[in-house]
Amino acid sequence: MLCNQKRGRIFLTTPKDRQKPGMNMSLNPEKAILSTRPELFDFHGVSMVHYFTDNWENVQNFQARPDDILIATYPKAGTTWVSQILDLLYFGQTCPERQKTIPIYERVPFLEIAIPSLDSGKDLADKLATTPRLIKTHFPVQFVPKSFWEQNCRIVYVARNAKDNMVSYFHFDRMNVVEPEAGEWNNYFHRFLEGQMLFGSWYDHVNGWWKKKQNYSNIHYMFYEDMIEDTEREIDKLCSFLGLSRSAEEKKMISGGVQFDKMKKNEMANYSTLPVMDFKISPFMRKGKVGDWKNHFTVAQNEVFDEDYKKKMKDPTLQFRTEI
Ligand code: PPS
Repeated sequence: MLCNQKRGRIFLTTPKDRQKPGMNMSLNPEKAILSTRPELFDFHGVSMVHYFTDNWENVQNFQARPDDILIATYPKAGTTWVSQILDLLYFGQTCPERQKTIPIYERVPFLEIAIPSLDSGKDLADKLATTPRLIKTHFPVQFVPKSFWEQNCRIVYVARNAKDNMVSYFHFDRMNVVEPEAGEWNNYFHRFLEGQMLFGSWYDHVNGWWKKKQNYSNIHYMFYEDMIEDTEREIDKLCSFLGLSRSAEEKKMISGGVQFDKMKKNEMANYSTLPVMDFKISPFMRKGKVGDWKNHFTVAQNEVFDEDYKKKMKDPTLQFRTEI
Protein backbone atom coordinates (compact mmCIF):
# COMPACT_ATOMS: atom_id res chain seq x y z
CA MET A 1 0.00 0.00 0.00
CA LEU A 2 1.42 3.35 -1.02
CA CYS A 3 0.43 6.63 0.54
CA ASN A 4 2.86 9.27 -0.60
CA GLN A 5 0.44 12.09 -1.38
CA LYS A 6 1.05 15.67 -2.40
CA ARG A 7 -1.49 18.26 -1.43
CA GLY A 8 -3.66 19.97 -4.04
CA ARG A 9 -5.00 23.49 -4.23
CA ILE A 10 -8.10 22.80 -2.21
CA PHE A 11 -5.86 22.93 0.83
CA LEU A 12 -5.56 26.69 0.64
CA THR A 13 -6.58 27.50 4.15
CA THR A 14 -6.45 26.14 7.61
CA PRO A 15 -7.88 28.35 10.36
CA LYS A 16 -4.25 29.25 11.19
CA ASP A 17 -3.46 30.03 7.56
CA ARG A 18 -6.42 32.35 7.37
CA GLN A 19 -4.95 34.49 10.12
CA LYS A 20 -1.78 35.05 8.07
CA PRO A 21 -1.60 38.37 6.21
CA GLY A 22 -2.66 38.05 2.58
CA MET A 23 -3.91 34.50 2.92
CA ASN A 24 -7.54 35.45 2.49
CA MET A 25 -6.81 37.45 -0.61
CA SER A 26 -6.34 34.35 -2.70
CA LEU A 27 -9.82 33.30 -1.71
CA ASN A 28 -11.62 36.53 -2.40
CA PRO A 29 -12.35 35.84 -6.07
CA GLU A 30 -13.82 32.48 -5.18
CA LYS A 31 -15.87 33.96 -2.39
CA ALA A 32 -17.27 36.48 -4.85
CA ILE A 33 -18.27 33.71 -7.25
CA LEU A 34 -19.60 31.53 -4.49
CA SER A 35 -21.59 34.23 -2.78
CA THR A 36 -24.61 33.45 -4.97
CA ARG A 37 -26.33 30.16 -4.23
CA PRO A 38 -26.60 27.81 -7.23
CA GLU A 39 -29.99 26.84 -8.63
CA LEU A 40 -31.15 23.27 -9.11
CA PHE A 41 -31.80 22.14 -12.66
CA ASP A 42 -32.80 18.89 -14.27
CA PHE A 43 -29.76 16.95 -15.47
CA HIS A 44 -30.53 13.63 -17.20
CA GLY A 45 -33.57 13.31 -14.93
CA VAL A 46 -31.76 14.19 -11.67
CA SER A 47 -31.76 17.54 -9.82
CA MET A 48 -28.24 18.92 -9.85
CA VAL A 49 -26.33 22.20 -9.51
CA HIS A 50 -23.60 23.20 -11.92
CA TYR A 51 -20.70 22.65 -9.48
CA PHE A 52 -21.27 18.93 -9.91
CA THR A 53 -22.00 18.85 -13.65
CA ASP A 54 -19.54 21.41 -15.06
CA ASN A 55 -16.82 18.77 -15.30
CA TRP A 56 -19.20 16.07 -16.56
CA GLU A 57 -17.25 14.95 -19.67
CA ASN A 58 -13.96 14.66 -17.79
CA VAL A 59 -15.63 12.89 -14.91
CA GLN A 60 -17.37 10.45 -17.22
CA ASN A 61 -14.01 9.72 -18.86
CA PHE A 62 -12.28 9.15 -15.52
CA GLN A 63 -10.00 6.13 -15.77
CA ALA A 64 -10.58 3.95 -12.75
CA ARG A 65 -8.02 1.32 -11.77
CA PRO A 66 -8.97 -2.16 -10.61
CA ASP A 67 -7.84 -1.45 -7.04
CA ASP A 68 -9.65 1.89 -6.73
CA ILE A 69 -12.29 1.97 -4.00
CA LEU A 70 -15.34 4.11 -4.60
CA ILE A 71 -17.25 5.40 -1.57
CA ALA A 72 -20.75 6.17 -2.82
CA THR A 73 -23.50 7.81 -0.80
CA TYR A 74 -26.51 10.06 -0.96
CA PRO A 75 -25.26 13.30 0.67
CA LYS A 76 -25.19 13.26 4.48
CA ALA A 77 -25.41 9.48 4.85
CA GLY A 78 -22.04 8.98 6.57
CA THR A 79 -19.55 9.51 3.73
CA THR A 80 -16.91 11.23 5.83
CA TRP A 81 -17.17 8.67 8.58
CA VAL A 82 -16.61 5.72 6.24
CA SER A 83 -13.92 7.64 4.34
CA GLN A 84 -11.98 8.16 7.55
CA ILE A 85 -12.38 4.50 8.49
CA LEU A 86 -11.12 3.30 5.11
CA ASP A 87 -8.21 5.72 5.16
CA LEU A 88 -7.20 4.43 8.60
CA LEU A 89 -7.64 0.79 7.58
CA TYR A 90 -5.38 1.22 4.56
CA PHE A 91 -2.89 3.83 5.67
CA GLY A 92 -3.23 4.29 9.43
CA GLN A 93 -0.24 2.07 10.23
CA THR A 94 1.94 2.73 7.20
CA CYS A 95 1.45 6.52 6.91
CA PRO A 96 0.17 7.85 10.23
CA GLU A 97 1.21 11.40 9.28
CA ARG A 98 -1.33 11.42 6.50
CA GLN A 99 -4.34 11.64 8.82
CA LYS A 100 -2.71 14.47 10.77
CA THR A 101 -1.77 16.69 7.84
CA ILE A 102 -4.12 16.10 4.91
CA PRO A 103 -7.81 16.93 5.14
CA ILE A 104 -10.27 14.19 4.36
CA TYR A 105 -11.48 15.84 1.14
CA GLU A 106 -7.97 15.51 -0.29
CA ARG A 107 -7.26 12.05 1.03
CA VAL A 108 -10.57 10.97 -0.47
CA PRO A 109 -11.35 13.30 -3.40
CA PHE A 110 -14.95 14.07 -4.31
CA LEU A 111 -14.92 12.96 -7.94
CA GLU A 112 -17.59 15.20 -9.48
CA ILE A 113 -16.93 18.48 -7.64
CA ALA A 114 -15.73 21.41 -9.75
CA ILE A 115 -15.50 24.72 -7.89
CA PRO A 116 -13.88 27.59 -9.79
CA SER A 117 -10.16 28.10 -9.08
CA LEU A 118 -9.87 25.01 -6.87
CA ASP A 119 -8.61 21.65 -8.08
CA SER A 120 -11.49 19.61 -9.38
CA GLY A 121 -12.23 16.33 -7.67
CA LYS A 122 -11.33 14.52 -10.85
CA ASP A 123 -7.91 16.19 -10.98
CA LEU A 124 -7.29 15.42 -7.32
CA ALA A 125 -8.26 11.80 -7.92
CA ASP A 126 -5.95 11.60 -10.94
CA LYS A 127 -3.13 12.96 -8.83
CA LEU A 128 -3.68 10.61 -5.90
CA ALA A 129 -0.46 8.72 -5.33
CA THR A 130 -1.97 6.21 -2.93
CA THR A 131 -2.64 2.57 -3.62
CA PRO A 132 -5.48 1.96 -3.42
CA ARG A 133 -7.07 5.28 -4.29
CA LEU A 134 -10.11 6.10 -2.17
CA ILE A 135 -12.62 8.16 -4.14
CA LYS A 136 -15.92 9.69 -3.04
CA THR A 137 -19.05 10.22 -5.10
CA HIS A 138 -22.65 11.25 -4.45
CA PHE A 139 -23.76 10.21 -7.91
CA PRO A 140 -26.87 8.09 -8.33
CA VAL A 141 -25.76 4.74 -9.70
CA GLN A 142 -26.54 5.56 -13.35
CA PHE A 143 -24.08 8.51 -13.31
CA VAL A 144 -21.03 6.51 -12.18
CA PRO A 145 -18.25 6.64 -14.81
CA LYS A 146 -18.20 3.38 -16.73
CA SER A 147 -14.55 2.59 -16.01
CA PHE A 148 -15.46 1.75 -12.39
CA TRP A 149 -17.71 -1.06 -13.66
CA GLU A 150 -15.28 -2.14 -16.37
CA GLN A 151 -12.46 -2.39 -13.84
CA ASN A 152 -14.73 -4.22 -11.40
CA CYS A 153 -13.79 -1.77 -8.64
CA ARG A 154 -14.90 -2.33 -5.09
CA ILE A 155 -17.65 0.07 -4.04
CA VAL A 156 -18.71 0.88 -0.50
CA TYR A 157 -22.21 2.37 -0.45
CA VAL A 158 -23.53 3.94 2.76
CA ALA A 159 -27.23 4.64 3.24
CA ARG A 160 -28.99 6.46 6.07
CA ASN A 161 -32.65 6.50 6.97
CA ALA A 162 -34.51 9.17 5.02
CA LYS A 163 -35.79 11.13 8.01
CA ASP A 164 -32.39 11.74 9.59
CA ASN A 165 -30.81 12.10 6.17
CA MET A 166 -33.26 14.88 5.34
CA VAL A 167 -32.61 16.75 8.60
CA SER A 168 -28.85 16.50 8.18
CA TYR A 169 -29.10 17.70 4.58
CA PHE A 170 -31.28 20.64 5.63
CA HIS A 171 -28.67 21.94 8.06
CA PHE A 172 -25.90 21.32 5.54
CA ASP A 173 -27.73 23.30 2.87
CA ARG A 174 -28.15 26.17 5.31
CA MET A 175 -24.42 26.49 5.87
CA ASN A 176 -22.78 25.54 2.56
CA VAL A 177 -22.68 28.08 -0.29
CA VAL A 178 -22.12 25.35 -2.88
CA GLU A 179 -25.61 24.01 -2.13
CA PRO A 180 -28.95 25.46 -3.19
CA GLU A 181 -30.57 27.67 -0.55
CA ALA A 182 -32.26 25.53 2.12
CA GLY A 183 -35.18 27.90 2.70
CA GLU A 184 -37.57 27.18 5.50
CA TRP A 185 -38.05 23.72 6.93
CA ASN A 186 -41.58 22.87 5.81
CA ASN A 187 -40.78 23.74 2.24
CA TYR A 188 -37.55 21.76 2.43
CA PHE A 189 -39.47 18.77 3.79
CA HIS A 190 -41.75 18.73 0.72
CA ARG A 191 -38.86 19.28 -1.68
CA PHE A 192 -37.11 16.25 -0.20
CA LEU A 193 -40.18 14.08 -0.75
CA GLU A 194 -40.33 15.28 -4.35
CA GLY A 195 -36.64 14.59 -4.96
CA GLN A 196 -35.89 18.28 -5.52
CA MET A 197 -32.51 17.98 -3.83
CA LEU A 198 -28.98 18.19 -5.13
CA PHE A 199 -28.20 14.62 -6.38
CA GLY A 200 -31.88 13.97 -6.76
CA SER A 201 -34.30 11.80 -4.90
CA TRP A 202 -33.12 9.92 -1.81
CA TYR A 203 -35.62 7.20 -2.70
CA ASP A 204 -34.21 6.70 -6.20
CA HIS A 205 -30.64 6.84 -4.92
CA VAL A 206 -30.86 4.18 -2.22
CA ASN A 207 -33.06 1.94 -4.39
CA GLY A 208 -30.90 2.38 -7.49
CA TRP A 209 -27.75 1.33 -5.65
CA TRP A 210 -29.59 -1.50 -3.88
CA LYS A 211 -30.74 -2.93 -7.22
CA LYS A 212 -27.24 -2.60 -8.67
CA LYS A 213 -25.95 -4.74 -5.84
CA GLN A 214 -28.04 -7.64 -7.13
CA ASN A 215 -26.00 -7.95 -10.33
CA TYR A 216 -22.67 -6.37 -9.35
CA SER A 217 -21.13 -8.28 -6.49
CA ASN A 218 -18.42 -5.78 -5.60
CA ILE A 219 -20.79 -3.44 -3.74
CA HIS A 220 -20.81 -3.46 0.04
CA TYR A 221 -24.07 -1.78 1.08
CA MET A 222 -23.87 -0.37 4.60
CA PHE A 223 -26.22 1.54 6.89
CA TYR A 224 -25.38 4.57 9.03
CA GLU A 225 -27.59 3.22 11.81
CA ASP A 226 -25.57 -0.01 11.94
CA MET A 227 -22.38 2.00 12.28
CA ILE A 228 -23.86 3.93 15.18
CA GLU A 229 -25.04 0.72 16.79
CA ASP A 230 -21.72 -1.13 16.53
CA THR A 231 -18.86 0.54 14.70
CA GLU A 232 -16.44 -2.30 15.34
CA ARG A 233 -18.78 -4.88 13.85
CA GLU A 234 -19.17 -2.73 10.73
CA ILE A 235 -15.38 -2.31 10.45
CA ASP A 236 -15.11 -6.11 10.62
CA LYS A 237 -17.56 -6.44 7.74
CA LEU A 238 -15.67 -3.83 5.75
CA CYS A 239 -12.43 -5.77 6.28
CA SER A 240 -14.07 -8.97 5.02
CA PHE A 241 -15.38 -7.19 1.95
CA LEU A 242 -12.05 -5.55 1.21
CA GLY A 243 -10.02 -8.69 1.94
CA LEU A 244 -8.08 -6.95 4.72
CA SER A 245 -6.78 -8.73 7.75
CA ARG A 246 -6.29 -6.31 10.62
CA SER A 247 -5.66 -7.23 14.23
CA ALA A 248 -8.50 -6.97 16.72
CA GLU A 249 -6.46 -4.32 18.51
CA GLU A 250 -6.08 -2.19 15.40
CA LYS A 251 -9.78 -2.43 14.58
CA LYS A 252 -10.66 -1.43 18.10
CA MET A 253 -8.29 1.52 17.88
CA ILE A 254 -9.80 2.65 14.59
CA SER A 255 -13.31 2.31 15.94
CA GLY A 256 -12.42 4.40 18.98
CA GLY A 257 -10.68 7.04 16.87
CA VAL A 258 -13.63 7.59 14.55
CA GLN A 259 -16.33 8.13 17.16
CA PHE A 260 -18.31 11.32 16.63
CA ASP A 261 -16.69 13.46 19.33
CA LYS A 262 -13.21 12.55 18.14
CA MET A 263 -13.97 13.29 14.52
CA LYS A 264 -15.74 16.52 15.43
CA LYS A 265 -12.53 17.78 17.03
CA ASN A 266 -10.29 16.50 14.25
CA GLU A 267 -9.48 19.37 11.88
CA MET A 268 -8.41 16.93 9.19
CA ALA A 269 -11.81 15.21 9.27
CA ASN A 270 -14.32 17.90 10.27
CA TYR A 271 -14.20 20.14 7.16
CA SER A 272 -13.26 23.21 9.20
CA THR A 273 -10.51 23.96 6.67
CA LEU A 274 -12.88 24.34 3.73
CA PRO A 275 -13.94 27.93 3.04
CA VAL A 276 -17.38 27.21 1.53
CA MET A 277 -18.99 26.18 4.83
CA ASP A 278 -20.13 28.51 7.60
CA PHE A 279 -19.96 26.64 10.88
CA LYS A 280 -21.52 29.59 12.68
CA ILE A 281 -24.76 28.56 10.97
CA SER A 282 -24.28 24.81 11.53
CA PRO A 283 -21.17 22.65 11.97
CA PHE A 284 -20.38 19.84 9.54
CA MET A 285 -20.16 17.42 12.46
CA ARG A 286 -23.55 18.44 13.79
CA LYS A 287 -25.15 15.74 15.98
CA GLY A 288 -24.13 12.36 14.62
CA LYS A 289 -27.23 10.59 15.94
CA VAL A 290 -30.06 8.34 14.88
CA GLY A 291 -33.48 9.87 15.61
CA ASP A 292 -32.72 13.60 15.47
CA TRP A 293 -35.62 13.83 12.99
CA LYS A 294 -37.94 13.74 16.01
CA ASN A 295 -36.69 17.22 16.91
CA HIS A 296 -37.68 18.52 13.47
CA PHE A 297 -40.70 16.64 12.11
CA THR A 298 -44.13 17.76 13.24
CA VAL A 299 -46.70 15.02 13.87
CA ALA A 300 -48.47 16.02 10.64
CA GLN A 301 -45.23 15.94 8.64
CA ASN A 302 -44.43 12.53 10.04
CA GLU A 303 -47.79 11.19 8.86
CA VAL A 304 -47.35 12.66 5.39
CA PHE A 305 -43.84 11.25 5.25
CA ASP A 306 -44.85 7.72 6.31
CA GLU A 307 -47.73 7.58 3.81
CA ASP A 308 -45.50 8.73 0.98
CA TYR A 309 -42.69 6.39 2.07
CA LYS A 310 -44.91 3.33 1.75
CA LYS A 311 -45.69 4.26 -1.84
CA LYS A 312 -42.07 4.82 -2.82
CA MET A 313 -40.25 2.08 -0.90
CA LYS A 314 -41.84 -1.08 -2.28
CA ASP A 315 -38.84 -3.41 -2.03
CA PRO A 316 -39.23 -5.38 1.22
CA THR A 317 -35.56 -6.40 1.14
CA LEU A 318 -34.38 -2.80 1.70
CA GLN A 319 -35.20 -1.79 5.26
CA PHE A 320 -34.14 1.28 7.23
CA ARG A 321 -34.23 2.00 10.93
CA THR A 322 -35.31 5.46 12.07
CA GLU A 323 -34.43 4.67 15.67
CA ILE A 324 -32.15 2.18 17.37
S1 PPS B 1 -21.31 14.75 3.03
O1 PPS B 1 -21.28 16.24 3.01
O2 PPS B 1 -22.38 14.24 2.18
O3 PPS B 1 -20.02 14.16 2.71
O4 PPS B 1 -21.71 14.40 4.53
P1 PPS B 1 -21.58 12.96 5.19
O5 PPS B 1 -20.22 12.78 5.72
O6 PPS B 1 -22.12 11.92 4.31
O7 PPS B 1 -22.61 13.06 6.40
C1 PPS B 1 -22.48 13.97 7.46
C2 PPS B 1 -23.31 13.43 8.60
O8 PPS B 1 -22.61 12.31 9.18
C3 PPS B 1 -22.35 12.61 10.54
N1 PPS B 1 -21.08 12.02 10.97
C4 PPS B 1 -20.99 11.12 11.97
N2 PPS B 1 -21.92 10.54 12.73
C5 PPS B 1 -21.50 9.69 13.68
N3 PPS B 1 -20.20 9.40 13.92
C6 PPS B 1 -19.22 9.96 13.16
N4 PPS B 1 -17.96 9.67 13.38
C7 PPS B 1 -19.61 10.86 12.12
N5 PPS B 1 -18.93 11.59 11.21
C8 PPS B 1 -19.85 12.28 10.52
C9 PPS B 1 -22.33 14.13 10.59
O9 PPS B 1 -22.44 14.60 11.91
C10 PPS B 1 -23.52 14.44 9.71
O10 PPS B 1 -24.75 14.07 10.32
P2 PPS B 1 -25.64 15.04 11.24
O11 PPS B 1 -26.91 14.29 11.50
O12 PPS B 1 -25.88 16.29 10.45
O13 PPS B 1 -24.86 15.28 12.48
